[in-house]
Order: sequence, then structure tokens, then C-alpha cells
Amino acid sequence: MEFRELIKERRSVRKYQKCIIPAEDVREILQMASYAPSWKNNEASRYYVAVSEEAVQAVYEALPSFNQRSTENAVYVVTAYVKGQSGFGPEGPVDHLGDKWGVYDAGLHNAYFVLAAKEKGYDTLILGLRDEEKLRAVFNIPEEEEILSVIALGKREGDVKTAARKEVEDFAVIR
Ligand SMILES: Cc1cc2nc3c(=O)[nH]c(=O)nc-3n(C[C@H](O)[C@H](O)[C@H](O)COP(=O)(O)O)c2cc1C
Repeated sequence: MEFRELIKERRSVRKYQKCIIPAEDVREILQMASYAPSWKNNEASRYYVAVSEEAVQAVYEALPSFNQRSTENAVYVVTAYVKGQSGFGPEGPVDHLGDKWGVYDAGLHNAYFVLAAKEKGYDTLILGLRDEEKLRAVFNIPEEEEILSVIALGKREGDVKTAARKEVEDFAVIR
């Protein structure tokens, strides 16, 4: 798929077909996501992948009902990052942003993930609304890591409307 087409075809999908999603496919998508840039190449982004019936159900239970409904038949990846790495030097945080640089890195990593997923024939939905403590328990995620989104991964059922976007002049200054 052409890169331009890939960017435009990647949409938040809220209806998924029943299908088998092999762990190996998720591994390949993660491998591509690993090429994302990060602060000093820290690679502090982390993923916890739920593909077995049991793990998928456990993540499902950590979602509010509207996000559960949107992701029936999908599998999940829980995204996180290791705190105190990106944006930090030997003396501590290098500026007032501190761990926000870790969030920045993880966002980039996740962006690569959703595009790589699309390229492999999958659709995704990033979920910011989730129960962090339940997710921590499902995968025994250590406190050194901050949990961010859950990304649902599957194959879309039906068409998806493209959400409108701002004009470049509305979000960028070009001089
Ligand atoms: C950090 C973040 C959190 C989000 N949380 C949710 C969510 O909890 N539930 C949901 O249905 N969509 C969620 N979304 C998806 C956005 O609503 C969606 O990306 C946006 O409307 C643009 O649509 P598009 O992805 O199709 O371009 C989230 C997206 C991001 C980046």
C-alpha cells in the first residue's frame, strides 16, 4: 500500500469481524513499530499483548462498556513506557517536561504500530479510557512503568467514515 494511502486508510475502527489473529502477526507489527524514533534511542515503550481468549477477556473487563462494545472480536495490546528514562539524564529530568518525553516517545511508537498494523491488513482503535489498575494486574505490570492506552487490533466490518481534519493553516505556522 502506498504510504499516503496507508495514512488515509488508517481509521479508528469500532466494529470488528470474528477472525483469528495470530500472535506472530502482532509480533511483526511490533517489530515494525520498534523503528520509531525515541529520546537517545532509549526505547522505553512497552507493550503487553493479549491474544489468548483468557487474556483478551481480562483486558476487555478493564474497559468501560462503550469501549467494550466497540472492540468485540478484536485482540488487545496494552501500551506503557518505563518512567525516568526519556527526558532524563544522570542528574534527573533535563527540563520541565520530565516524563512527558516518555509519553511523547510512546505516542510515536504507537503511531508506528497502528500504521504497521494497517499495512499488514489490520485495523485498530486506540483506547484512552480504561481501568489502569485492572490492566496492571492482568499482566503484572511493574510500577516503574506508566500504563497508557489499550490498542484494539482486528479486521474491520463494514465501512468507516473519515473524521474531518483541520486545514494546515489552522494548526501550523509556516514562515
Ligand atoms: C490518546 C487517544 C485516546 C483515545 N481514546 C479513545 C477511546 O477511549 N474510545 C474511542 O472510541 N476512541 C478513542 N480514541 C480514538 C479517537 O477518537 C480517534 O482517533 C479520533 O476521533 C480521530 O479518528 P480517526 O482515528 O479515525 O482518524 C483515542 C485516540 C487517541 C489518540
